[in-house]
Amino acid sequence: MKNKILPAVLISVTLLTSCDSDAPGLKDVFAGHFLIGTSIDRRELSGADPGALPFITEHFNAVTAENAMKWERIHPEPGTYYFDLADSIMDFAQNSGMAVIGHVLVWHSQTPDWVFRDSLGNQLTREALLERMKDHIQMVVGHYRGKVLGWDVVNEAVDEDGSLRQTPWLSIIGDDYIEMAFRYAHEADPEAELYYNDYNNEEPLKRAGVTAIVTNLKEKGIRIDGVGIQGHWHLDSPDFTVVDESINEYANLGMKVMITEMEINVLPTPAWLYGAEISKTAEYRDSLNPYAKELPDSVGLQLADRYAELFRLLLRHSDQVSRVTFWGINDGYSWKNDWPIPGRTNYPLLFDRDYNPKPAYYAIIKEAAKLK
Ligand code: XIL
Repeated sequence: MKNKILPAVLISVTLLTSCDSDAPGLKDVFAGHFLIGTSIDRRELSGADPGALPFITEHFNAVTAENAMKWERIHPEPGTYYFDLADSIMDFAQNSGMAVIGHVLVWHSQTPDWVFRDSLGNQLTREALLERMKDHIQMVVGHYRGKVLGWDVVNEAVDEDGSLRQTPWLSIIGDDYIEMAFRYAHEADPEAELYYNDYNNEEPLKRAGVTAIVTNLKEKGIRIDGVGIQGHWHLDSPDFTVVDESINEYANLGMKVMITEMEINVLPTPAWLYGAEISKTAEYRDSLNPYAKELPDSVGLQLADRYAELFRLLLRHSDQVSRVTFWGINDGYSWKNDWPIPGRTNYPLLFDRDYNPKPAYYAIIKEAAKLK
């Protein structure tokens, strides 16, 4: 008997959840304040999880390709471009009336080594690397010309102390590689917005480095529209006053400010792994994975408080903040389950692994309701 009713009950529970009037779409709740985005990757589009795409259209009005537009995916070998997955993301987004963010053109990670070498394996000259950068940008940005709201043109070019990060881009081309990337991107799609994106760039020293980049571009008359603060954050860090200051500082430079890859890690993580330098990792230990079965209510509430504080702040700045993008649709999809420590069970987003809204979801909805 039980077995017979169960599937029907399950179906109605699923239906209820997906059009639960107690869980209005985030994009509707924050309409008039900022776009609400999510990352999206092959898994969401594959059909393996039939709930994923309806959930995305219900809650989000912007998408960022989590990996599909990165150099190693879209241009893995010289002269070979694979647009299939990114095209599917574009089709899905266009059919659903969502904005698409291009991520990312010039970065030190997820970029194959060959990019910096000639066919004999020798390091490229400045001119040759600029040529290669230009070709890549023309091809990728050109392919989506008129369809992308804005591009993360350069990602993570600044170190924690505010100096330019040592990367092959910098050492081979020199510090004008950033402005060249923005020039090429603008040529390839004059209508697209162009962004500088980084993690920890809410911290004062790094912020100063990003401010210097923006100021330099502006002085030279090179288009830059916004600064992305990735927002790979934690329960105990950063102190959100630095986010508050950064929004003002970037906005005062005429920049749109975006939180571009947000989540709040709830697991114990050594501070040297804070940030988002993807090459830094540590080995799995059970002690670093304390909530393997479920998230204790007390931690869920801590997360809710932290999100509420953040959204109070973002809503206060909604004339300066144009978009808030979550890095993942629900806890099961978050890269934080496997980075910086593989094999953990993390709970950094607003929805649990079954798409149920968590207290953190209701907490931010409440912040928006206070303004009505
Ligand atoms: C991450 C993706 O989420 C992972 O799937 C991938 O394995 C590594 O990259 N900064 C960025 C994002 O700009 O592109 C990164 O995304 C996270 C850090």
